[in-house]
Amino acid sequence: MSTHRTFTMIKPDAVVNGHTGAILEKIAASGFKIVAMKYTQLSLRDAQEFYAIHKERPFFGELVAFMTRGPIVSAILEKENAVEDFRALIGATNPAEAAEGTIRKMFATNIAENAVHGSDSDENAAIEGAFHFSGREIY
Ligand code: CMP
Repeated sequence: MSTHRTFTMIKPDAVVNGHTGAILEKIAASGFKIVAMKYTQLSLRDAQEFYAIHKERPFFGELVAFMTRGPIVSAILEKENAVEDFRALIGATNPAEAAEGTIRKMFATNIAENAVHGSDSDENAAIEGAFHFSGREIY
């Protein structure tokens, strides 16, 4: 996968609250091209594997329960400097600390239910994208 790509999920809180369209619009308006996308729901096993890096954290159980609670939208996005630019667009993990105009400031509920995921490195973007999409689902 190219280093001009990042991986995102619109999380169950944002989907159930009806923010999917507005978030996708903001992503497109910010210059990201969607090269893969699906509307899906994570199984317990999916979420435990995807978030394995956090398994020793006190919030791991809460995180897995939240992320499997309802449907998500997962996508691979393409743009120059995708990982860094997308993290700037979504804002801080805790929406209370997120800058005005960021996706989390506008749509997140709290630090746990924070509306969107964005990969934190090119390496993780590739791993996370490959976790959700096969090669023939990426355009
Ligand atoms: P994200 O950064 O996308 O990936 C890890 C997730 O863990 C994070 O979003 C939140 O959804 C969740 N998380 C991070 N910190 C906390 C916390 N202190 N309490 C509960 N959930 C958290």
